[in-house]
Amino acid sequence: MSHGVHRSAQNFVSLCEVGPRDGLQNEKRIIGVDEKVRYIELLVAAGFREIEVTSFVSPKWVPQLADAEQVLARLPAKHGVLYSALVPNEQGLDRALAAGLKKIAVFTAASEGFARKNINATIAESIERFRPVVVRAHEASVSVRGYVSCIVACPIDGAIAPEAVAKVCQQLKDLGVDEFDLGDTIGVAHPDELARVIEACACVVPMETLTVHLHDTFGRAMACAERALSMGVRRFDGSTGGIGGCPYALGATGNVASERLAALCASRGYCTSIDREGIDAAARFITGVLTAPLSAS
Ligand code: HMG
Ligand code: MG
Repeated sequence: MSHGVHRSAQNFVSLCEVGPRDGLQNEKRIIGVDEKVRYIELLVAAGFREIEVTSFVSPKWVPQLADAEQVLARLPAKHGVLYSALVPNEQGLDRALAAGLKKIAVFTAASEGFARKNINATIAESIERFRPVVVRAHEASVSVRGYVSCIVACPIDGAIAPEAVAKVCQQLKDLGVDEFDLGDTIGVAHPDELARVIEACACVVPMETLTVHLHDTFGRAMACAERALSMGVRRFDGSTGGIGGCPYALGATGNVASERLAALCASRGYCTSIDREGIDAAARFITGVLTAPLSAS
């Protein structure tokens, strides 16, 4: 029996759009709720089936996303589209559940220095913090993604061993986390380094549960994505227009652009849910918002 190449599971690549969260969390200017909602509507129209729309973190730590409830309240419910958000603790989970989310993301790191700086906890403390979050999320039929940041290098601790990343994946798996997101937070990975991390993690969690989350500081993110694809990774995060970066990782630049990931997949014969014109419209919109002259008033 012949399978349409573009329809088989092996050839489908899931692209999760993180622009509204990772893209906007680092912006100096405050983007209004209307613009955020319009941006997300355009992402839905572009075909994204999963969009990380905001964070339920402390507004003192990330004021750019302090309007999480307001944004969520105005998002169109669309069949087949999953909205998710970062949740660092039970307080964040309470907010996410009240907002009606069906997916959340807990986030820690493979480096102690970054965990301390980003979430004010050791890695071990963060895992303990997530324990009740995962239990309660699952009780509410909410799925949980677990991010591991600094998978190759940390802005504070330097080089990170692949085994350290795999160890955190294992700890998240033991908590019951459903999928694992490998973050090259400062965009320094070479394809060979990323490959070693994927190999190590795929020994502890199934390859199909791994997402690769690249930032593009040194222009190697596309080569890394290509290597990950060749190894069997079928889930990637990106941000339209390549916007973003983490405010707690000095020097971190934007995520790899979603439109470039979609184009890479298409050029290699993989299928995504993304519509080319739709994604270009979303990228034009958000980069226009971010570069518009500030009004004098
Ligand atoms: P803390 O200061 O240790 O927390 O921060 P706390 O429990 O002591 O609480 C301090 C205050 O924050 C209290 O308020 C809490 O109520 C409040 P106060 O009594 O002072 O008025 N608070 C909250 N408010 C709302 N929602 C909450 C919440 N939690 C506490 N959920 C904490 C610890 C984890 C909260 C803090 O460090 C934090 O919010 N960090 C988030 C930082 C962040 O969002 N970083 C960017 C995302 S990570 C990233 O970009 C990497 C990624 O993209 C992958 C990659 O690229 O590698 C995911
Ligand atoms: Mg990131």
